[in-house]
Amino acid sequence: MKILLTGGTGYIGSHTAVELIQAGFEVEILDNLANSKIAVLDKIAKITGVKPKFYEVDLLDASATDKVLRDGRFDAVIHLAGLKAVGESVEKPLIYYKNNVCGTINLLESMKRNSVNKMIFSSSATVYGDKDGIKLTEDMETGIGITNPYGETKYVIEKILMDVANSNNDFEVTILRYFNPIGAHSSGLIGEDPNGIPNNLMPIIMKVATGEIPKLMIYGDDYNTPDGTGMRDYIHVVDLAKGHVKAVEKLKPGVEVYNLGTGEATSVKEIVKAFEDVAGKELPNEVVERRAGDLAKIYADCSKAERELGWSTELNIKDAMRDTINYLRHYEG
Ligand code: NAD
Ligand code: UFG
Repeated sequence: MKILLTGGTGYIGSHTAVELIQAGFEVEILDNLANSKIAVLDKIAKITGVKPKFYEVDLLDASATDKVLRDGRFDAVIHLAGLKAVGESVEKPLIYYKNNVCGTINLLESMKRNSVNKMIFSSSATVYGDKDGIKLTEDMETGIGITNPYGETKYVIEKILMDVANSNNDFEVTILRYFNPIGAHSSGLIGEDPNGIPNNLMPIIMKVATGEIPKLMIYGDDYNTPDGTGMRDYIHVVDLAKGHVKAVEKLKPGVEVYNLGTGEATSVKEIVKAFEDVAGKELPNEVVERRAGDLAKIYADCSKAERELGWSTELNIKDAMRDTINYLRHYEG
């Protein structure tokens, strides 16, 4: 089976490429390198022995996208390409809507023109909006209380995919709602390497560990959680990548939605402690005010993915910390 992976040089995309290649799929990558580096392709080759064909293409370029789909003769598309910085999306909403929504529409149009009817889409727990402290299941209402344009783009794209599936009985789409991906490949060759200043917890911890950022600001310790800090469902990126392999193997006509998380919530202080334990040194930190829009506790019910995809996580927070630290040791910039 031949797969086009959009966003495949990015953090989750590179790990997904590795797992797909190792599972025997033929993988080609489309990315505009807005938030990733071309050197990732050599790292994928080093891990798997296969260097995927690469198209440096922006999904906003409809004719270039169309040419990739026309020449590639793909069986399925795994669509991870998108901009993902929550704060930036508040400042530059039009760029986010244009890139994520219009990029997806261009891709869907090209898929239609070239008779590619199978798609996996990277969505996010953010579509559940302001539901706090309850295990989230796929059938819960979405779209209420989303606090930023990035989250809205995921919600809108999910709606578009559902409408496309409604209009075309041959269309097979699986929407994967990721919770909080962390960690890196055990080889230390690929991991999270964002351009610019990160705003997610683990990339910030990595920069504190390397001294690029003086200390971690813990956003609030007065939440209704056991230690007062925010709790999230942190999933090892390799487990997440394997979820894509299962999802593509189980594609069927219509729309399916799966949460990909662990079912467990971990607090910011627990993450800091786990990192310190594995690194063997203290991570400078300070508790500051809450961050606007944050919720106390977000975690997934993943029983549907377990039941229907035969997928569940194999790695834990300690594994993620070990692999992150190993990645930092190998990091070449
Ligand atoms: P990433 O930034 O590392 O990867 C995204 C890739 O898409 C980058 O390589 C970027 O260059 C590319 N891209 C962006 N716009 C493009 C365009 N118009 N044309 C072609 N390529 C384009 O991010 P990631 O963490 O690997 O996330 C992958 C997907 O998963 C994204 O859609 C993201 O929204 C989603 N997601 C991520 C998280 C997370 O916490 N990392 C959580 C939920 C969902
Ligand atoms: N946090 C800090 N200090 C920091 C950064 C984060 O204390 O410097 C805390 C946050 O307050 C939160 C936790 O660490 O309690 C996780 O924060 P992240 O920014 O890493 O992740 P979020 O859960 O806020 O958001 C992430 C992605 C979204 C996605 C969402 C899905 O950024 O795109 O997960 O749950 F939608």
